[in-house]
Amino acid sequence: MSSSARTVSEFTNTNLEPLLTAEQIQARIAELGAEIARDYAGRDPLLIGVLKGAVVFISDLMRATDLRLGVEFIAISSYGSSTRTSGEVQIVKDLDVAIEGRDILVVEDILDTGLTLSYLLANLHARGARSVKLAALLDKHERRVREVHIDYLGFRIPDAFVVGYGLDFAERYRNLPYIAILRDPES
Ligand code: IMP
Ligand code: MG
Repeated sequence: MSSSARTVSEFTNTNLEPLLTAEQIQARIAELGAEIARDYAGRDPLLIGVLKGAVVFISDLMRATDLRLGVEFIAISSYGSSTRTSGEVQIVKDLDVAIEGRDILVVEDILDTGLTLSYLLANLHARGARSVKLAALLDKHERRVREVHIDYLGFRIPDAFVVGYGLDFAERYRNLPYIAILRDPES
């Protein structure tokens, strides 16, 4: 290890203002999982996680959902800087399976403008899915440009840039076990 190795804790960085604790997140996910299991009873939904932000959420949500289900992933890029979404959307890693006739539950980390999800939900509908619903951990509702219905919502949050629990700033902070507001993205 070089002499310049960082010794500062990543999880207690002073640039992070805690917003939701790991315990609050787990308690809400237990409720969402129970609700999903009830709503889809007797069916075999396919959970589609949106890479990479939703990876942590989907891994906890599927274990809170006592149901026969499948899991797939899709990756989407919305061009622009890391704190803004431009509205241009492209699928960069598509599903490996056909979804015709399936009950789809898209699992996303956060809805901001709604542009990414409105594109994705329409795209999945067009492939002949029987139903397409959405679970989102966070909703920054004030910033919505395109209305998107969230069937299973974790938390509504203020208009601030948040990181942790899968959410990143320039690929950093996905590993925080809680969600924090990033005070100064430049530091
Ligand atoms: P939308 O198309 O504006 O709804 O953008 C949603 C995507 O932007 C999310 O899936 C995130 O990848 C990213 N995003 C939006 N707000 C935040 C944030 O506060 N922190 C981290 N990523 C965010
Ligand atoms: Mg995302």
